[in-house]
Amino acid sequence: MVSRLGVAVVGFGWMGRVHTQAYVRVPHHFPQLSLRPELVAVADDVPGRAEEAAGRYGFATAVRDWREIAVDPRVHAVSIAAPNFLHREIGVAMAEAGKHIWIEKPVGLTVEDARAVSGAVTKAGVRGTVGFNYRNAPAVAAARELIASGDIGTVAHVRIRLLSDYAAHPEGALTWRYERERGGGGVLGDLASHGVDLARFLVGEIESLAADTAVFIPERARPTSATAGHTRATGGVPGPVENEDYVNCLLRFASGARGVLEACRVSVGEQNNYGFEVHGTRGAVFWDFRRMGELRISRGTTYQDQPVSTLHVGPGHGEYAAFQPGAANAMGYDDLKVIEAYHFLRSIEDGTAYGPTLDDAVHSAAALDAMSGSAERRGWVSPVV
Ligand SMILES: NC(=O)c1ccc[n+]([C@@H]2O[C@H](COP(=O)([O-])OP(=O)(O)OC[C@H]3O[C@@H](n4cnc5c(N)ncnc54)[C@H](O)[C@@H]3O)[C@@H](O)[C@H]2O)c1
Repeated sequence: MVSRLGVAVVGFGWMGRVHTQAYVRVPHHFPQLSLRPELVAVADDVPGRAEEAAGRYGFATAVRDWREIAVDPRVHAVSIAAPNFLHREIGVAMAEAGKHIWIEKPVGLTVEDARAVSGAVTKAGVRGTVGFNYRNAPAVAAARELIASGDIGTVAHVRIRLLSDYAAHPEGALTWRYERERGGGGVLGDLASHGVDLARFLVGEIESLAADTAVFIPERARPTSATAGHTRATGGVPGPVENEDYVNCLLRFASGARGVLEACRVSVGEQNNYGFEVHGTRGAVFWDFRRMGELRISRGTTYQDQPVSTLHVGPGHGEYAAFQPGAANAMGYDDLKVIEAYHFLRSIEDGTAYGPTLDDAVHSAAALDAMSGSAERRGWVSPVV
């Protein structure tokens, strides 16, 4: 039997839109779900933005203040897609109000913030899903299975990269992302958080790390009007960039594997160059987000000069079958969010966690805090969960 689940979205920038579209599409791809999301309310504090979203996507109610959603009895689940500094306050309030939450990474500014949201979710007995969407790529699911099967031997070393140019333009506006109080650690929360999640998903817990960070564009112009995403600003009053453009980090995993994680938001010539290389004692597996459906695999018994072949993921890998009937039909970023919505709704349906949870967010945030501490102290640090 199908029943309706009232959902709301807080923050209608890029992620708010993607979550909304995922709620609309999820029953098309996963008809086995017995919960059908109903778009009840949207909140955004920029005047007119929530109303526009309601007009376009069909939310019944548009509000400026997210607190109205916390007390709305029609709302059972909330997407939290507001800037990082609001994650804790909104996440805790929604959980305490008995709402299930689908919250964007990195879940706050610090590990304390992530812990607070995680604790509130546990205490309230609601479900919490976190936006570590790269896990949802069927090729990443296949890589995890391959590694766990022992096919590439024991994991020896890993390279994880998240290089992007979204902040490379010197006229990129000084939005919340560049302020420590509202954006946290800059590229650490923006990109390295995804890298830590991928590292843990594929290889296991990080035992210690040593990081170096840098700011390459130290000043930007303040925006002269409301922003969403990565807008440009000229003529605004210049202000300092308070958080990191770049992080480079050595990793030691609990398994004994070693790794390197590099993330940058100002890499000219790099557009979403996200991916990993996992090297085992007998083989290796390579993934690049820009060729999301391909996994390059080296396996066998020759060790040296061992060839690499390409696997095009298909219906047997991850949730691919919900999208296409045969291998090598390209999926896109938004599809990863549809899978995330599926995990969220399925978790609500049967009370079991599917996909990344707030516990994963706490682990990721602990690693990010350790990176900041390590860069400051110039030494090895163990993440404290
Ligand atoms: N999973 C991913 O791949 C991914 C990608 C991008 C962003 N994110 C995360 O999603 C979150 C939002 O990022 P974005 O790129 O959509 O940002 P954005 O700037 O495009 O959108 C944020 C929205 O929140 C609104 N907002 C600000 N204060 C608010 C308040 N008090 N109440 C209600 N709305 C408020 C803004 O007006 C804006 O519309 C961030 O935490 C970010 O880390 C995740």
